[in-house]
Amino acid sequence: MIKILYLNPSAHLGGAEWVLYDVVTHLDRHRFQPVVALPKEGPLAESLREAGIDVRLIEAFAPLLKLGRYSRWRDYLRVSPALSRALQGGQALSRIVQDEGVAIIHAHGIKAHLLSALLKPVLHVPIIWHVHDFIGGRRFHRLYRCVAGMVPSLVIANSRAVADDLGPDPNVVVVYNGVDLQRFSPIRRSAEGGSYHVGMIGVLAPWKGHGVFLEAARRVSERLENVQFWIVGDEIYDTDGHRGYRRRLEEWVREAGLHGRVRFTGFCRDVARVIGGLDIVVHASIEPEPFGRVLVEAMACGKPVIASRAGGVPEIVEHDVNGLLVTPGDVERLADMILRLLNDADERERLGRAGRRRVEERFSLAEQVRRIQRLYESLWPSGTIDEDDRALAVDR
Ligand code: UDP
Ligand code: GLC
Repeated sequence: MIKILYLNPSAHLGGAEWVLYDVVTHLDRHRFQPVVALPKEGPLAESLREAGIDVRLIEAFAPLLKLGRYSRWRDYLRVSPALSRALQGGQALSRIVQDEGVAIIHAHGIKAHLLSALLKPVLHVPIIWHVHDFIGGRRFHRLYRCVAGMVPSLVIANSRAVADDLGPDPNVVVVYNGVDLQRFSPIRRSAEGGSYHVGMIGVLAPWKGHGVFLEAARRVSERLENVQFWIVGDEIYDTDGHRGYRRRLEEWVREAGLHGRVRFTGFCRDVARVIGGLDIVVHASIEPEPFGRVLVEAMACGKPVIASRAGGVPEIVEHDVNGLLVTPGDVERLADMILRLLNDADERERLGRAGRRRVEERFSLAEQVRRIQRLYESLWPSGTIDEDDRALAVDR
């Protein structure tokens, strides 16, 4: 039995957390025993416990959670007194590792990576970094890349684009995220009162491009009467700069006279059901999306997707084959694509079917879990990855 300790810096359910949830709840429990360390209570902790997973709260890490992509230097200074408390959290973690026979640490997210680096001298087990984000534009990118070459025995990137961003590091492998093909499966929508539903799903954060989606929605509404636009998701993170965005979007909608047309659903736990109620799923990120789980979820449900051509997205969606790609921020083209799909049921059907096939072939959760398990077995107890295992585990 190989015991794996997972570290994650957030207790909410965003993309990286869903990856963690999906993987730990689908591990072969005859071979692997997961323990998940989180900084505080929240939907991720609750969902994991409901699924019978051993969750430990290390609350000393909670003050560090506010740091993120929008933090300024003074935000870092503000949390610095909490660092000494965080070190106590480190002691708690090292006790779990040593007293409970943890064989591997699997750290998700930049903050968990840096924490594992600080604790490496006392942990004495192989560390995996699972990278879900681009590091390039971040404040500490040089330091991060340098530490990435020294601390983890293995770095898993969620897309080729994210791996390339990490630079030439022989320890980096690509394992694509997968979705549960039963949970996300095609549902035919019965059009309520003949109206269409076009949705954007994801955390409410400026880089996700809700403004672009809404501007395109305004243009579509000028041409077609019977379309509703759904904004699915909420401001779930505690990180700096993530609050107040929803209010600004709602004001924009009111000022644009679109309040009858746009629905803010808030956070939905059952996204598969929500996708079932949509005719088209739009992804509008204005910064490169590292991977984009919502795309594979929508495609698995047989829905046509329109997505921003940047980051890891072109590794998922092939333009005009199993979805449509648009230059990030190109509102006019996005509106045209939405109109084109709304006016063409056959085209929606064709792209939706091809999208489902694409996900079955490349982005199933079963395959992702198989690959990660193979990497664990290769890494333990030697601490290094066997070349054959690497070749079999990795996405190309
Ligand atoms: N999600 C959710 N409820 C919502 C909105 C989003 O559970 O109301 C999930 C969504 O199904 C997806 C994840 O949040 O699994 C978002 O992941 P993605 O990789 O698309 O983007 P991220 O937010 O991680 O950058
Ligand atoms: C991050 C990225 C997203 C990716 C998710 C899961 O949250 O922003 O693109 O899909 O992690 O890997």
